[in-house]
Order: sequence, then structure tokens, then C-alpha cells
Amino acid sequence: MGKTMMKRIALASAVVLSSLMSVNTMAAADDAAKAITDRRAVFKLLSFANAPLGGMARGGEFNAEAATEAAERVAMLAGMIPALFATNTAGEVQPGRYIAADRIWDGMDDFNQKAMDLVNGANAALEILNTQGADGVRAAVAEIGPKCGACHDVYRVEQ
Ligand code: HEC
Repeated sequence: MGKTMMKRIALASAVVLSSLMSVNTMAAADDAAKAITDRRAVFKLLSFANAPLGGMARGGEFNAEAATEAAERVAMLAGMIPALFATNTAGEVQPGRYIAADRIWDGMDDFNQKAMDLVNGANAALEILNTQGADGVRAAVAEIGPKCGACHDVYRVEQ
């Protein structure tokens, strides 16, 4: 085989390889974009689910059914957090002012524990509401709100 031919083959393989690599990179970026959209959707729902309890704690009218439903929904949604962070987006472009910190994926045990703390907090809140009714609203909220903040303080950052 002549030298020119070998050069051509080498060049052609390099082109194929680099386009395969960019397809891979694009697929990874798509995965990251989807992961970011999915997890943000669940956090929005967490806020939505938790809002009625917050309102009652700030002096809104107590509604036992709405209060327990809120705690149940928070527990259910919080249980999804670890799975929603299975895709590592460290180093990826994340839109918006507040984003997930890359350190989440340094070791997920602590992050997943903070998600479990929220599940447990919401279940504790449910127990309090079931036993104390309106008198337990503030205590119930105190089981949930700080668990959101504890995770945000470490794993949600401003860019
Ligand atoms: C285990 C950690 C963790 C817990 C617990 C947690 N969050 Fe978050 N939250 C995050 C991270 C990380 C982000 C950033 C996600 C992103 O931008 O991709 C976030 C983002 C959000 C957002 C912004 C979503 C958006 O549209 O950008 C809201 C709202 C939110 N959280 C509400 C809550 C509420 C309410 C609770 C408690 C009921 C809570 N979070 C508990 C980690 C947590």
C-alpha cells in the first residue's frame, strides 16, 4: 500500500472516530439535560406538596386531610431523590442561577442520607399530625423544612 493511501486511511479513521466521539458527547449532554429537567420537576412538586402545611403553620386554617396529604406527598417525592441523581452532571452546563453542586457525585452516601432524612422527617410529621391534629402543625413543619435547608446548604449552589 502506498504512503498516500495509508495517510488517507488514517485520516478517514480519525474523522470517523472523532464524529463517533462527538455523537457520544452529544448523547451525554442530552442525558444531562434530561436529568436536570427531571430532578427540577420533582423539586417543584416537593414545594407544591409542602406548601399547604407551610400555609397552615403561618396561621392558615387547619385542614387535617390536606395536612396529612401534604406530609404523605413529601415523603413519597423525597424517596425519589436518590434515583433522580443517578445521572452524574458534574461539569455539565446547568442553566439557571441555582444548580446542583458537583460535589454530590464525589460520594453519594451523604447526599442520599439527606434525602432519607427528609423522607423520615415527613413520616414523623405525618405521625405528629395524626396524633396531635392542629396543635401539631408547627412541630410537623419543623420536621420537614429544616431537612430541605440542610441539603440545599451543601448541595445546591449559586452560579
Ligand atoms: C437531598 C438533597 C435535597 C433535599 C432534601 C431537598 N432539596 Fe431541593 N434541591 C436540591 C438540589 C441539589 C437542587 C438543585 C437541582 C438542580 O438545579 O438541578 C434543588 C432544587 C430545588 C428547587 C428548585 C427547582 C428548580 O426548578 O430549579 C426547589 C423549589 C427545591 N429544591 C425545593 C425543595 C423543598 C421544598 C425541599 C423540602 C421539602 C427540598 N427541596 C429538599 C437538593 C435537595
